[in-house]
Amino acid sequence: MTESQDNAIPAQGDHGSDVGWFDTKFQMAEPEYLAVARAADFQRGWHVLDAGCGSGSFLPELAELVGSTGRLTALDLAPENVATVRERVEQWGFPMPLETHTGSVTALPFDDQTFDALWCANVTLYLSDAELEKAIAEFRRVVKPGGLVAIKEVDLAVTRVNPAPTGFFWHFLEATQEISVQIHGALRSQNLKRWLERAGFGSVRQQTTLIERWAPLLPVEHLYISGILAWSAKYALQTDLAREEIAIWEKLSSRDSVDSLVNHPDFYFCEGIILATGYRPS
Ligand SMILES: C[S@@+](CC[C@H](N)C(=O)[O-])C[C@H]1O[C@@H](n2cnc3c(N)ncnc32)[C@H](O)[C@@H]1O
Repeated sequence: MTESQDNAIPAQGDHGSDVGWFDTKFQMAEPEYLAVARAADFQRGWHVLDAGCGSGSFLPELAELVGSTGRLTALDLAPENVATVRERVEQWGFPMPLETHTGSVTALPFDDQTFDALWCANVTLYLSDAELEKAIAEFRRVVKPGGLVAIKEVDLAVTRVNPAPTGFFWHFLEATQEISVQIHGALRSQNLKRWLERAGFGSVRQQTTLIERWAPLLPVEHLYISGILAWSAKYALQTDLAREEIAIWEKLSSRDSVDSLVNHPDFYFCEGIILATGYRPS
C-alpha cells in the first residue's frame, strides 16, 4: 500500500468537514471510547497532543484527565476540522490552555520533546505502512523522554455481523484488504504493539475492547452501522465473493434498504478497538 487516499469513510481532504460522521461514530461508541481513553493512563498536569483530532470528540475527556494544571494541543490535517475544534473549544470553556494546529502526523510541526503524552485516535487506518512508520517516528520525537504515546484504532479483524453465513465478514476482508488503504490499516491495527516496539518504545501494552450492539438499534447505532456497512459494500461489490454473500452486500449498499441485514430483528454487530501504548525510553 502506498497511497492513503481511497474513497473513504469521511477522513480528510474532501471528506474532512464531515464533522457529522465523526460525531455519529463517537456517540455510537461513547462508553467504550471513553473507557479506552481513560485506560491510556494520562496524568494530571500533563501536556497532551491530540494528533488527528477530527471534530475534537476526545478533547473534553482529555481535558478532564489532565485537569486545570494540564495543557492540550490539537492537530489535524484538515483545516476545516481545526476550525470546528476552535469553535467548540470556545463553547467548552476548558480551564487549561488549548492550542490548535493544522498539520500531518507524518511531519509534526512541533519541536522535539514538546509533550508529556500523545493521543492518536482513529487516524492510523488512513496511513499507508510507510506513512505509519513516519508517524510513529514523529510521535517518538515530539514526546519527552519517558513520555507516553497512546494509539487507538479500529480492529477490523474482530468485526462480526449476524445473522450471516459463516465467515461472511472474513471473506470480505480477505477480498478487499489489498484494494483499500483503510481496510488494510484497520486490519494492521492488531499489530500496533509490534510497530511501537520496533520503533523503540518501552513498556508497550495492547488491549482490545469490543463494541457490541444488538437489534433493536438506537437511531445513532443504526446510522453508524448502516453507514459503515454501506461503505464496506462499495468494496465488496468490486470482488468475486460468493453469489449469496454479494446478495447480502447489495442490500447493505443502500442504507435505506428495508430488508438489509441491519434491519433484521436478530441483527448483531461487533467492532473491535485496539489501544496500544508505549513510553519513550528516558
Ligand atoms: C475518523 S477521524 C478521527 C478524529 C478523532 N481523532 C476521533 O477519534 O474522533 C480521522 C481524522 O484524521 C485526520 N487525518 C487523516 N490523516 C491525517 C494525517 N496524516 N495527519 C493528521 N490528521 C490526519 C482526518 O482529517 C480526520 O480528522
